[in-house]
Amino acid sequence: MKNIEKIKMEDMKVMMVFFSATGNTQKIANVIQQKLHELNVSVSILDITSYLSRKEEISISQYDAVIFGFPIYSMRAPRVCREWLQKLDGEGKKCSVFFTFGGFGKDPAHYYIKELLEKQNFKLVSTGEFLGAHTFNRSGWQAAEGHPNQSDFNAAQEYTIRTIKRFTGEDLNEIREFKKPIFSSNQLDQAEKYRFHLITQLPTRSNNSCSMCGLCEKMCPTNAMNMIKGIADVNSCIACFRCIANCPDAVLHTNDLSNTWTKKLELHKTTKEEINNLKSKIYL
Ligand SMILES: Cc1cc2nc3c(=O)[nH]c(=O)nc-3n(C[C@H](O)[C@H](O)[C@H](O)COP(=O)(O)O)c2cc1C
Repeated sequence: MKNIEKIKMEDMKVMMVFFSATGNTQKIANVIQQKLHELNVSVSILDITSYLSRKEEISISQYDAVIFGFPIYSMRAPRVCREWLQKLDGEGKKCSVFFTFGGFGKDPAHYYIKELLEKQNFKLVSTGEFLGAHTFNRSGWQAAEGHPNQSDFNAAQEYTIRTIKRFTGEDLNEIREFKKPIFSSNQLDQAEKYRFHLITQLPTRSNNSCSMCGLCEKMCPTNAMNMIKGIADVNSCIACFRCIANCPDAVLHTNDLSNTWTKKLELHKTTKEEINNLKSKIYL
């Protein structure tokens, strides 16, 4: 293991890995990349959104530290990202994770990612959570509209500075303990399983003005979309809305979720204004 205590910023090699189905996480990753350049830190980027990119074997041997960026899906990093992480050896190196989320149930994400990364032999030094318009806004919700915005980008710059200080050893403090969530991993797995029955239906082609460009199939992060059938596979679709967001003919859709929006707010005992005014946060 390379000793990275008190390494100079300009000698540091960082890898940033992110998954972003509809672009929010990528926007934050771009801000972090820019800030790393300003700090003279060398950074390599790995986008693991595509199905094939997650099949490639990777090693972090040549890097001093890793930054991971994920959206929050059902209170945790997406299942496909957690599965990908389970194949990665952290080699005892420092890492940080930032999430984007639509304003609900984010605390378990921090706790469970720390647990997973430590199992993979990483040393987590910081996490961040940045507001991002909820994916389901495309189907009638109104959560965290307009995010990420300049205030989230400012928080992402601050996150980068604080994280690099932990990577270089200028800040030798350990990351805080996260409170154990009331939901176990098994309970969250169950909730995820029933999503298609309770909330969203499968992305489906709505009419015949499809130009059959095949982009939905090509871009699908889990190989779930079938352009001929015009519907995603129930066992592999993760409801990320990547196909819907990128369809040039706008013929893909899921069910209208506007009727579940009020129930969602009631369940979380909050309001649209409260959600939209939440602030992005850094955990050290
Ligand atoms: C399947 C699914 C589940 C989600 N679950 C949550 C959640 O539990 N809490 C939350 O605040 N946002 C949730 N979101 C919203 C996303 O975390 C948010 O919109 C994120 O910024 C999307 O990132 P991306 O644009 O990089 O894909 C969910 C989105 C999807 C698609």
